[in-house]
Amino acid sequence: MSQTYLITGASEGIGLETARLAAQSGAAVLMVARNAAKLHAAAATLGGVVRPETAVVDLGDASALEAFLTALDARGYVPDVLVNNAGAGASGAFVEADWGKLNAMLRLNVQALARLSHWAAKGMKARGHGSIVNLSAAVATRPMPYFAAYAASKAFVTNLSIAMDSELRSGGVHVAAVHPPAVRTGFSSADKADLKTTLVLKLFPTVGPVTVARSVLYAITRKRRSVTVGPVAGIVLGSAAIMPRSLDLAFMTLLFKGKRATV
Ligand SMILES: NC(=O)c1ccc[n+]([C@@H]2O[C@H](COP(=O)([O-])OP(=O)(O)OC[C@H]3O[C@@H](n4cnc5c(N)ncnc54)[C@H](OP(=O)(O)O)[C@@H]3O)[C@@H](O)[C@H]2O)c1
Repeated sequence: MSQTYLITGASEGIGLETARLAAQSGAAVLMVARNAAKLHAAAATLGGVVRPETAVVDLGDASALEAFLTALDARGYVPDVLVNNAGAGASGAFVEADWGKLNAMLRLNVQALARLSHWAAKGMKARGHGSIVNLSAAVATRPMPYFAAYAASKAFVTNLSIAMDSELRSGGVHVAAVHPPAVRTGFSSADKADLKTTLVLKLFPTVGPVTVARSVLYAITRKRRSVTVGPVAGIVLGSAAIMPRSLDLAFMTLLFKGKRATV
């Protein structure tokens, strides 16, 4: 019997590469995203022996998410692995940001991830096994001026994941947070996280989405509760606890302030 993977945000970037690796390992993958044409085109590139399924859902829309979960429940579907990868970013001064963009990000990064984790963990616990991997970020361990709400949303992701793992592991359910540094995907573009003008992208090396996808698979096979992707993410995560706070805030401001159009 092939393993089943439910992967959100699977039409591009890290999610697509994770879906590709899972499919190539023989898994039956259910891929979720909003843009149907892009999702179907991505699914057609996966390869593997089991044809992937797709579901077009705006996970930031609570009622659409509930309808999706009800449909999965109706067919008795509980994935062996849930990868909560879909995520949005918003950089720039918090108070200047468009509230609609911030709100959509928080609904996706926090609310939808928590709902999907809760739903999957219930089914997995009843069955006695399963893995949930949540995409966090290297910025999860500190307050981040000019990337404030995004970094705070990833702090939620990391802490929820590790606490859930602690509660559930003895019942056979494993939960992990994966922490990439900046990744070469469309995430940084002006219509998404808008990081292109920041120093952080100029000064720090990035990793490719395949590297992160391998870390996701590593978290699952080795049942790790926290995975850091590469040395830069390790330094970013680890330094938060030892840097004097005001120096750290000034450094993060320098890295993330950038030059953006205000709304
Ligand atoms: N790239 C980075 O530098 C970086 C660094 C650290 C952590 N991360 C985290 O890694 C994860 C993936 O990032 P990525 O760079 O691969 O992102 P990406 O290239 O922007 O891809 C995002 C994926 O999520 C889907 N998506 C976005 N909003 C959605 C919604 N409301 N409902 C359902 N699907 C939605 C997108 O498809 P549609 O637009 O069609 O819905 C797409 O498939 C995110 O959680 C991100 O925070 C990224």
